[in-house]
Amino acid sequence: MLKYNLDGTLIGSGGLEAADLEKLATPLTSVREEVLADADLWAAGGDVPEAKQPLDAGFHLLPNRLLDELASEGDDSELARLQATADQMTELVDRVVVLGIGGSYMGARALLEACCHPYYNQVAPTLRNGRPEIFFEGNNVDNDAVQGLLDLLAGESGDWGIVVISKSGGTLETAAAFRIFLRELEQSVGEGDLGKYVVPVTGSSGKLFDLATALGCKELFPVPDGVGGRFSVLSAVGLLPAAIMGLDIEALLHGAAEMNEHFATAPFDKNLVLQYVAAAHAMEIKHGADIRILSTWGKRLEAVGLWYDQLLAESIGKQEQGAMPLTIVNTRDLHSRGQQHQEGKRDKYITNLIVEEGTREPLAIGESDHNQDQLNELASKTLPEVLSAAIAGTNKAYRDDNRATADLVLPKLDEQHLGQLLQMLMLATVVEGRLLGINPYGQPGVEAYKKNMNAILRS
Ligand code: PA5
Repeated sequence: MLKYNLDGTLIGSGGLEAADLEKLATPLTSVREEVLADADLWAAGGDVPEAKQPLDAGFHLLPNRLLDELASEGDDSELARLQATADQMTELVDRVVVLGIGGSYMGARALLEACCHPYYNQVAPTLRNGRPEIFFEGNNVDNDAVQGLLDLLAGESGDWGIVVISKSGGTLETAAAFRIFLRELEQSVGEGDLGKYVVPVTGSSGKLFDLATALGCKELFPVPDGVGGRFSVLSAVGLLPAAIMGLDIEALLHGAAEMNEHFATAPFDKNLVLQYVAAAHAMEIKHGADIRILSTWGKRLEAVGLWYDQLLAESIGKQEQGAMPLTIVNTRDLHSRGQQHQEGKRDKYITNLIVEEGTREPLAIGESDHNQDQLNELASKTLPEVLSAAIAGTNKAYRDDNRATADLVLPKLDEQHLGQLLQMLMLATVVEGRLLGINPYGQPGVEAYKKNMNAILRS
């Protein structure tokens, strides 16, 4: 299970006292009851009171539902179909273009960067277990980038396919990219076969659903009702790309289900979700620390951080409230943002995201005959030891200046712990929204630009 260490926050001045957290025990415990009741109400299909709409609580019990369905329905279950489709895609093509934006993109990218080979597309296929290369598009309207990817697809031999993901089925960025990539794909595989090479993930109706039906797509996966885009990483939206990458999607869901159990049953002082929200909220109330820095240590968690940036920003950045999320990658960003975090305004609260046990054997710096760099005295130190020293040294430097930090620790960077982490952050976001009196679901503020863009284009 993940670990959460608040020692660097409980530092008195500049940070918190234990009493600051205890004060939040009663309100947060009752918010937990509300969040659990919302999930049950949603699952039971009960009437949602006006004040709670929209209530996209479907993400909460989704991991449990998908696993139960696998146990009871076997090959007919959605998970088994997802896996089978991913395996067929792997047989059929060498490269897959995943089209989607926002919640229909960030989760899959986070899974790829966290759990796959760091140079997934570039390494020999055996190092990615023979799975197809993955490219993300439809997440912008960048003329050069789209054509750059088309060059790359045309320049290499072997077939490619498309996974197109849009809950609404009408998002312009994704729809325009789909039309362009589909046109190219048709030229390479022919119109009759398009349905084999395209797998859509979308709602149960809409423009993409209609288009997929017309194309004769062999499989179409749902974004379940009541699961908002940024909460959809553990639905087909994230699971289909994950299965294509060869990730263990059951382990991801088991991790998330473990977090659900923990959230529902652990007391306040041991509850990762409630403690995480309590500390961040108390830092904001007490010190005005409304910039939430997720400081990821190592390169592989950056996209998880970007996924979380969207989750927090779109969920609670409403009614002129909500902390501002910012993901950084250390030690890289110690050399760019570090100065400001050490000596700038006291408006930041830093949560370190740390992986305890790496995937590969620790690599030592090693002896050299050329000791001009004077590293021979550190020759036996490994890269994980250097990283640990950087974490400890940075935390100490902040603490010496009364700047608070917390550590969120993944014992390993694997599917199970990532499932725990993603579910924890989704639950924490909902809990925080409810605590602030903000509906964490829906994103009314995103509509304005879409409306204007469409009006400008169609006028
Ligand atoms: O979190 C959200 O709901 C959004 O970020 C959406 O995922 C994003 O706007 C893409 O929408 P769609 O999946 O409908 O294309």
